[in-house]
Amino acid sequence: PPVNPLRSLILAAARNGTIRRLVATAPVSRDVVRRFVAGETTADAVAVTRRLVDSGLTVTLDHLGEDTTDAALAEQTVQAYLELLDQLHAEGLSDRAEVSVKLSAVGQMFDEDLALANAKRICAAAEAAGTTVTLDMEDHTTTDSTLRILAELRRTWPWVGAVLQSYLHRTLDDVTALATSGSRVRLCKGAYKEPETVAFQDPIEVDKSYVRCANALLAGDGYPKFATHDPRLVRIIGERAEAHGRKPGSFEHQMLFGIRPDEQLRLAQLGHTVRVYVPYGGEWYGYLMRRMAERPANTAFFLRALASR
Ligand code: FDA
Repeated sequence: PPVNPLRSLILAAARNGTIRRLVATAPVSRDVVRRFVAGETTADAVAVTRRLVDSGLTVTLDHLGEDTTDAALAEQTVQAYLELLDQLHAEGLSDRAEVSVKLSAVGQMFDEDLALANAKRICAAAEAAGTTVTLDMEDHTTTDSTLRILAELRRTWPWVGAVLQSYLHRTLDDVTALATSGSRVRLCKGAYKEPETVAFQDPIEVDKSYVRCANALLAGDGYPKFATHDPRLVRIIGERAEAHGRKPGSFEHQMLFGIRPDEQLRLAQLGHTVRVYVPYGGEWYGYLMRRMAERPANTAFFLRALASR
């Protein structure tokens, strides 16, 4: 079995209340956090968006928060998105910046109808602002529900995008079903710890699945968004896109804020659309811990910063 023993350790530590308090209140945290998170407020998010757009990149913004267990908190998330979309429009950024939404932050865990109704409000606001929405994908127990909500939203807003994760066995089928005209699919490897009954465990298998899914998307009529920092996959996507006669602009590369920023600019300078996923908001802890778990080098950076405070 796989990969990175640190990963399980860090994910376990992330759930520990004492560690959480230590990290979340350490004075140095802000600087370290700021490498990966735009800040806590709408103004922070807009300022970082402006900077990225000015450097030739495009943006998708994620208001941090997930696994919301009550309607009042879900409402706060919706309000945050409405305010953000309004500001992006007012600042003239909405042709270069869209939003990413985690349905679990707007009620999916306890009321799918509420999540749908909330997502509709965000989509309507995005339409008014002249931009789009992508639904993030969470753990595999939510996949069917998320695809149901996607289908419902796309009846009114065909441009609503979804994320599919190459680590799931089912994803080639889902990708193929969605590789149709007008559809926008973000393909990523997948960030959650999933059982072997539903997901490939060996990173090589996850990568092979990524390439199969990428081919299906490039062969179809939709607009694929390849979310990966993996240099090998970025190269293969370039080759496969060419083989499928896909011109720059008919697909995009996506990476996370703070991860391989030089590569983001390099791809943009080659004429590709590069979209940076920018998280912001007070609930940065879970997001940051997933990034640490993915890459020990990030963890070392973080621990060094903590130790030297
Ligand atoms: P992986 O982590 O396997 O790394 C492969 C290689 O990439 C490394 O060996 C290294 O060469 C390079 N690399 C990675 N990190 C680096 C770093 N910090 N610095 C330098 N090089 C680095 N997940 C999910 O489950 N649901 C979702 O909705 C989304 N949404 C999403 C949007 C966007 C825009 C992105 C980029 C990612 C997601 N993800 C996601 C996360 C995704 O599933 C995955 O966990 C991470 O992107 C990490 O996987 P990679 O493909 O980057 O490769």
